[in-house]
Amino acid sequence: MATNITWHHGHITRSERERQLNQRGVTLWFTGLSGSGKSTIATALERELVLKHKKALYVLDGDNIRHGLNKDLGFGPGDRQENIRRIGEVCNLFTDAGIIVLAAFVSPYKEDRDKVRALLDASQRKPNDEAPSINETAVNRRKPFVEVYIQADVATCEQRDPKGLYKKARSGEIKSFTGVSPDAPFEAPENPELVLNTGMLSVEDCVSRLVEYLSAGGYLA
Ligand code: PPS
Repeated sequence: MATNITWHHGHITRSERERQLNQRGVTLWFTGLSGSGKSTIATALERELVLKHKKALYVLDGDNIRHGLNKDLGFGPGDRQENIRRIGEVCNLFTDAGIIVLAAFVSPYKEDRDKVRALLDASQRKPNDEAPSINETAVNRRKPFVEVYIQADVATCEQRDPKGLYKKARSGEIKSFTGVSPDAPFEAPENPELVLNTGMLSVEDCVSRLVEYLSAGGYLA
């Protein structure tokens, strides 16, 4: 634990960064089982928002982050918690920079997801941000963390099994596999902002709903 550290305030506010980018910083947090479609939807939405809407966006994906930043972490409950904690901090930085973040993580524990939400909510208004004008008050109430439940049950995901992981989990080759192993439950979100059932909706449908949500919420300003 570091001691004797002091927060250093910059001269540029989040609102100024967002104005320059002509968008609002936000983290869309995709949670769901392995094979539910998190990465597929995130990368399809990335194409749409970057190529068509010209937005500044970055995808953070479980498999990828575990190749670098979190390569020291496994899949036990403590490591998954630390995985999400670190990712939450990264999302907070990107969101503060005014970027649209698409975070695709199994993130099976409700408490860990709620902590990321609390972190982003708390830092939305920095002490050095200017006082909001009346018009900006609504803007400042805009959620910086949006939970998107990529819903597909174990049977559906297991049928897809794009990486052959369910097969390995069933044979015992992979331990603590989410949704399969009794020690690795998935806690479905209770009040997500969006639910996308990928057993019923196409990737294009999911992307349309997400663009609609962002557009209606003024994030694409
Ligand atoms: S977590 O639970 O949020 O910490 O997981 P995450 O960082 O998103 O990483 C999930 C990807 O790791 C692969 N994988 C596993 N997933 C779940 N349980 C176990 N035991 C496991 N072992 C490896 C798998 O490819 C996950 O990616 P997705 O895209 O979800 O399939």
